[in-house]
Amino acid sequence: MKIPFFSFAERNQKLKAETLAVFEEFYDSNWYVLGKFTQKFEKEFADYNQVKHAVGVSTGLDALHLSLLALGVGDGDEVVVPSNTYIATVLAISFVGATPIFVEPRLETANLNPELLEAAITEKTKAIMPVHLYGQACEMDAIMEIANRHNLFVVEDNAQAHGARYNGKLTGSFGQANATSFYPTKNIGALGEAGAVTTDDPEIAEKISVFRNYGSQKRYYNNVVGYNMRIDEFEAAFLGICLKHIESWTKEREEMFKLYSECLAGIEGISPLKIAEGATTVNHLYTIRTQRRDELQAFLNEKGIGTKIHYPVPPHLQECYKNLGYSKGDFPIAEEIAETTLSLPNFIGIKESEIHYVGECIKSFFKES
Ligand SMILES: Cc1ncc(COP(=O)(O)O)c(C=O)c1O
Repeated sequence: MKIPFFSFAERNQKLKAETLAVFEEFYDSNWYVLGKFTQKFEKEFADYNQVKHAVGVSTGLDALHLSLLALGVGDGDEVVVPSNTYIATVLAISFVGATPIFVEPRLETANLNPELLEAAITEKTKAIMPVHLYGQACEMDAIMEIANRHNLFVVEDNAQAHGARYNGKLTGSFGQANATSFYPTKNIGALGEAGAVTTDDPEIAEKISVFRNYGSQKRYYNNVVGYNMRIDEFEAAFLGICLKHIESWTKEREEMFKLYSECLAGIEGISPLKIAEGATTVNHLYTIRTQRRDELQAFLNEKGIGTKIHYPVPPHLQECYKNLGYSKGDFPIAEEIAETTLSLPNFIGIKESEIHYVGECIKSFFKES
């Protein structure tokens, strides 16, 4: 059996007729930038996220960057961020001239540990950026309580968790400005690059709209130094289609993760990630931990099973952040996660028999050796 780590085949085949019909409408509209599809998607995504505004931008990284910019985070400020996040969260902090301050996650959930937050806050701290990693909501009540008490902004990185909740409230609706990505493999994924900022604050939404459009409200009049970070009109049209399917895809992910959990139950040597009390996950990635990660990955590869590591090098050890002066051992939990996690095949359309096969192979790896 050959099982890729990810495949678009089933999702795209199912959406093909709908997508081609929308493409024709888009093509015939003769309006290709910030048109009716963008407006419609922004309204629908805001409704989906139960916030007042969503502003479509070019990528998730740009959504993070513009969120910080709109909140006035800049030179000399510090921004607290999990030590095990994807590099984009940290890059956005660098783009605005602020300094990332890393806080360790909980090993069991891989999400920011709120108990460690307060010790990282100084008089320079301006914002906290929780990252809902692998699809699981962070412990947002504790994070918001600390942020409010210290008068800090919260910018959620909601790239991986469309539709996840903490104590019933949706991720992407807690912070003052929250960023998400519609990179093709995300739960709501474009056919190219796209992202969005979600917010309840009309002023922030307006600022993001201006920043994404050359800093201009009125054409050829530029109030601030902005960017071209507009969402692509056709991507907005396609994402509108995805939104109609997201509930059923999330259910499908839930089913496949249940099956994974059953298949892997009781295997000594691996630990699946835990879900924190009050949190839900939309199962963006099915990630396990094992001390024998590299061996297991090579074994599964031989069996035709694709896997990935999210992420092999934590930000503080990346070459591009050498200037921050960190070394190995500074964030041991992030480092352990980098050394021990493995994400298993997971995509819309994966078959039950394929998940059983992955389970059997993992079982035989730990039994044989
Ligand atoms: C947690 C996280 N943050 C930010 C991003 C950046 O999004 P994009 O690739 O759309 O720039 C991604 C995905 O790539 C991500 O997984």
